Amino acid sequence: MKRRSFVKKTFQWLAGLGLLTGLYSWQIEPFWMQFVYIKMPLKNLPDDLIGKTVMQISDVHIGNSFDYQYIIDSFKEAQELNPDFVVYTGDYVTYEDDEQISQLQEVLKFVVKGALGTIGILGNHDYGIDFVEDDVARNITKSLEDVGVTMLRNDAVEINGLNFLGMDDFWGSNFYPKKATAKYNPEKANIALCHNPDVCDLPVWNNFKGWILSGHTHGGQVKPPFLPALILPVKNKNYDAGIKDLKDGRTLYINSALGCLRQVRFNVRPEITVFLLAKEV
Ligand SMILES: [Fe+2]
Repeated sequence: MKRRSFVKKTFQWLAGLGLLTGLYSWQIEPFWMQFVYIKMPLKNLPDDLIGKTVMQISDVHIGNSFDYQYIIDSFKEAQELNPDFVVYTGDYVTYEDDEQISQLQEVLKFVVKGALGTIGILGNHDYGIDFVEDDVARNITKSLEDVGVTMLRNDAVEINGLNFLGMDDFWGSNFYPKKATAKYNPEKANIALCHNPDVCDLPVWNNFKGWILSGHTHGGQVKPPFLPALILPVKNKNYDAGIKDLKDGRTLYINSALGCLRQVRFNVRPEITVFLLAKEV
């Protein structure tokens, strides 16, 4: 093969590969949801909750940036797993105007509910434009409550001996995490819900021990193989995705999101997490 022809063929091959990668990242991976199964050992877990499941759904981002029929389809698949608890960790919409409230309500007709309880917290995008619109946060909260989701805004709820602490969002205007952690009960099994994992580094935890479920980062959405994600909206860049042992009795889990902010994903598949409850000895 002549050198010029070799260079031309290589160029064509690379261009083809680039096109395929682009198509994959735009049309396939953003809609290629996976269930991620994780064992969750908890201190003081009541015996009758051993083996029950806590399903985490995060960052569905209903709006106009991708076809949210995918979220409805994912909800239907999730419902088939009959979760015992379902927790939603914020960013229900990508807010532009009040159209997203009605779009969310349309999707919530298919809301995934837990047999024992369904709990939610807000994320920054649930606070509208620039994350400062309290009336948007109230409308989204009401939309979820109307379909039976217990919304925790710096509060806690105990269900069958499992204590859920739920913080409002770090970047929103109602961030009073100590109100939630004041309800930490070391005699109970505890799970904290906290949209933005950076909160783990703030002195607001009241000596909390247990699991913290977060979202927010979407795992960066694009992650070159063997390299860190390119864009992470957190100060602590260690908080990308997955399990993080915080080495002080807290275990953080960062969900990679079911939806996306822009319709692109590479090497960070969307997920719904299913935690299997176990007793920590
Ligand atoms: Fe998000």
